[in-house]
Amino acid sequence: MSITVSYLCLISQVHLLSYQDMFLLLFTIALLTAGSDAIADYSQYVKVFSGTENGGNNFPGVARPFGMVKLGPDLLYVGTDSYSGYLPIGNFSGFSMMHEQGTGGAPKYGTVAQLPLVGTISNPLSNITVGRQAPDQGSLGYYRSITKQNVTAELAASSRAGAYQYTFPAASTTNNVLIDVSHVLPSFRGQGLGQDYAGGEFTIMPDGHYEASGVYNNGWNRSPNWTIYSCGYFNSTPVRASAFTGPISSSGTVISRSSSIPVGGMYTFKDSTVFSRVGLSWISKAQACQNVQEQIPSNMSFAEVVQGTKDAWNSQILSKITTTTTNSTNLQLLYTSLYFMNILPTNRTGENPKWESSEPYYDDIFTLWDLFRCSTALLQVIEPAIYEEYIRSMIDIWRHDGYLPDGRSSNYNGRTQGGSNADNVLADAFVKGVRGKINWQDGYAAMVKDAEVTPPNTTPPDPMAPDSSTREGRGALPDWLQYGFITPNFTRSVSRAVEYAYNDFSLSQVAGGLGKAVDADKYLNRSRNWRNHWNNEASVLGFNGFVVPRNLKSFQEVNILNAGGYWMDPYYQASSWSYSFGDIHDMARIIGLMGGRERFLGRLDTTFTPGASGTPGRVLFDSTNEPTFNVPYLYNFINLPNHSVNRSRSVAKSYNTSPTGLPGNSDAGAMHTWLLWNMIGLYPVTGQTTFLIHAPWFESLTIDLGGGKKLQVTSSGSDGNGDRNIFVQSVKLNGQTWTKSWLVWDDIFKNGGTLHFELGNSMVVWATGELPPSPASGPGQLVIRPDDGNANVPQVVRIPSKESGARRLRSFMW
Ligand SMILES: *[C@@H]1O[C@H](CO)[C@@H](O)[C@H](O)[C@H]1NC(C)=O
Ligand SMILES: *[C@@H]1O[C@H](CO)[C@@H](O)[C@H](O)[C@H]1NC(C)=O
Ligand SMILES: *[C@@H]1O[C@H](CO)[C@@H](O)[C@H](O)[C@H]1NC(C)=O
Ligand SMILES: *[C@@H]1O[C@H](CO)[C@@H](O)[C@H](O)[C@H]1NC(C)=O
Ligand SMILES: *[C@@H]1O[C@H](CO)[C@@H](O)[C@H](O)[C@H]1NC(C)=O
Ligand SMILES: *[C@@H]1O[C@H](CO)[C@@H](O)[C@H](O)[C@H]1NC(C)=O
Ligand SMILES: *[C@@H]1O[C@H](CO)[C@@H](O)[C@H](O)[C@H]1NC(C)=O
Ligand SMILES: *[C@@H]1O[C@H](CO)[C@@H](O)[C@H](O)[C@H]1NC(C)=O
Ligand SMILES: *[C@@H]1O[C@H](CO)[C@@H](O)[C@H](O)[C@H]1NC(C)=O
Ligand SMILES: *[C@@H]1O[C@H](CO)[C@@H](O)[C@H](O)[C@H]1NC(C)=O
Repeated sequence: MSITVSYLCLISQVHLLSYQDMFLLLFTIALLTAGSDAIADYSQYVKVFSGTENGGNNFPGVARPFGMVKLGPDLLYVGTDSYSGYLPIGNFSGFSMMHEQGTGGAPKYGTVAQLPLVGTISNPLSNITVGRQAPDQGSLGYYRSITKQNVTAELAASSRAGAYQYTFPAASTTNNVLIDVSHVLPSFRGQGLGQDYAGGEFTIMPDGHYEASGVYNNGWNRSPNWTIYSCGYFNSTPVRASAFTGPISSSGTVISRSSSIPVGGMYTFKDSTVFSRVGLSWISKAQACQNVQEQIPSNMSFAEVVQGTKDAWNSQILSKITTTTTNSTNLQLLYTSLYFMNILPTNRTGENPKWESSEPYYDDIFTLWDLFRCSTALLQVIEPAIYEEYIRSMIDIWRHDGYLPDGRSSNYNGRTQGGSNADNVLADAFVKGVRGKINWQDGYAAMVKDAEVTPPNTTPPDPMAPDSSTREGRGALPDWLQYGFITPNFTRSVSRAVEYAYNDFSLSQVAGGLGKAVDADKYLNRSRNWRNHWNNEASVLGFNGFVVPRNLKSFQEVNILNAGGYWMDPYYQASSWSYSFGDIHDMARIIGLMGGRERFLGRLDTTFTPGASGTPGRVLFDSTNEPTFNVPYLYNFINLPNHSVNRSRSVAKSYNTSPTGLPGNSDAGAMHTWLLWNMIGLYPVTGQTTFLIHAPWFESLTIDLGGGKKLQVTSSGSDGNGDRNIFVQSVKLNGQTWTKSWLVWDDIFKNGGTLHFELGNSMVVWATGELPPSPASGPGQLVIRPDDGNANVPQVVRIPSKESGARRLRSFMW
């Protein structure tokens, strides 16, 4: 990373003369004088408003990597859910310390808030909001809002405490900071997913600081009560500080809302600048106070907190991937993507109120359904220490809560949209040699629980899918065990079957590695059971054979192209067309069932060709959601990686760093990691050591693998921007000519390595070697028609299309 680049970029921004630019200036000058071992400031390339709008739901506020505190604005615009607190419209309802990152479904958190207000406030706990005077501004580690009352609120954070710096209008002498313990992010979806405030306490201590606790429940994962503690200090002496219970009716009595009465307090200052430090804890008020005293002590300035955040990101995360490119568009895309993928999960070690353990504790897993294809595989590469702790923590969750999580927040598993996908994450770690302090006997026992023990149904049953648990494990396991397929007695029957098969494959991988040969065979066998949903007669657009819903003796007829399914439907958030590509561990069999190589190629091409579905302009491929993340790369399974490059590059064009620059929900960074793998030129096949090879964007990209090991991906012959000459002419792996369209972990990740691409502007045949593995298909199999697993059935039952209702839900989708 060259310092000259940082400096030039800086100059172009200096005219703004905002706080963050001055900061950057100082830091860059420090860098220029610090010598070559200083870490460059990659944080300047992070665009914190990237992907915040149009369903991206990125969190633009301040946070350390995996930090417990995620401090940002909460905007209220009645009727519109704000998933990460931020909206470009609406009024401020507070600046709160707890958020998710880039999620959909329904809002969670928005808890532990302050709100600055000018003038006399008659009814402090009546859900007061204040308008916005100018668009918010932010850079990594720093956030600023200006309210309609011309109060500037600046935010900074450490991992377990937050800093608020308020500047009130010069003419005002009644400057308030309101703390409403009942504050949460509301939900307007009307699906019973709104968060509730269930009670709290607020106390002003003799020395003037405040201590509070609040109890909340529900939200997207339908969590029961959880409690958070906070501890707040101000640097100036208020003229008045009061605690309230409220709100107060016009007759002066306290209005009770639901079961709980809001509590809170207000500090009123004459000073026009007010600095507040607030600590957070899941354990106690005392620990909240300790967190703030340790992390933002009274003598620490706001600027030092901001700098601490930049340093943490630069040293722990952003410096892990470096490139030689000087193209600022791509530098911003690279570092912004790295940033948003490393905010969740939350490292909560030492902050678990549910059990004592010497194992690490991570929460806010949102969700493995989204993350298992691209994110966890990249986390292992760039953050091996976090990754190992994360896996240990999931196993410890099984030890104490009974099941591995798929989603989890506020210490509660849920929700689970498809399979038990922690199995895939564990298998991926296992086969790539992650050991450390992980107890793999326990890890495997946790996976066996998923595969063998049906979780009790959620109580009361989830109204959006009452058939079985949406909390954890595999709710549709009774059918899977009894029949080897899932009947319509269970919702999401086909998409769950596709995922359960993948999960079983994951078990077979770990069982094999642990020397449990019988289990390995059993689960490999079970991993083929997605085939029982395959109906050779199902047909659309001239293609035959799709995964479909079925009863004991009959397949059902569905609209194969309908991608609007939700919790109650046979397919969740993607179509039969898409889920038919789903089981990548059995790809050779899929290719066979689809009619062989040429028909498979035709089906993939149809997936990406606008209008091929008969609807003008419609593209069957869905770049906005995770179930189809693999599909652009499946051409490698017929040795046409040149097509994978072509398709994936056009999908990558739907990403940029503008507020609307994400194709779908970020989903805790899942979208960003798809793009990062595209830049690197590889694609992970989760649960196996395989990486599919496509083509890198840059002339040189280096990944720091830790322990002095590096992976260097270089290319020549392109424009170095990922725009021109994208096609591979030849590949060299560790200096040797390479003709397979895939490689394995040990080739370049285990001890580091080099991968060099010669790029050009025409598609040429370079991949002539062995195909990528399809371990469930048997050695070298490309079966054309199956002779097993499919009852050939006479009757076809029609399921009414839910297209219109489901379409309406699309914008809310997870
Ligand atoms: C404040 O908003 C909550 C929902 O977030 C609602 O339950 C409550 O009734 C509101 N209180 C008042 C006083 O408007
Ligand atoms: C937004 O805040 C302004 C004051 O800044 C207030 O007049 C207005 O009623 C609020 N709007 C809503 C929808 O709460
Ligand atoms: C808002 O306050 C700033 C100082 O903090 C002042 O420069 C500016 O003129 C004020 N704007 C308005 C609209 O009052
Ligand atoms: C949730 O917490 C509130 C306040 O502490 C309490 O009144 C209520 O009983 C709790 N609910 C459950 C189900 O424990
Ligand atoms: C704050 O005070 C502590 C001792 O109380 C000292 O160790 C520390 O260096 C000080 N920090 C700053 C930023 O001045
Ligand atoms: C997670 O947090 C704990 C407690 O702060 C810390 O000791 C640990 O080093 C963190 N883990 C990583 C990998 O940074
Ligand atoms: C579906 O559920 C019903 C009611 O529990 C049960 O009677 C029936 O046997 C189930 N069908 C199958 C195929 O298991
Ligand atoms: C695999 O499944 C088939 C049919 O479901 C069964 O006959 C066979 O015994 C199974 N093999 C193993 C090793 O479980
Ligand atoms: C390459 O991708 C573009 C955009 O998706 C498409 O129009 C073109 O047909 C593709 N070329 C091949 C050979 O698949
Ligand atoms: C930087 O890269 C972008 C995206 O690849 C490209 O459109 C742009 O032309 C490049 N800029 C320069 C100056 O090369």
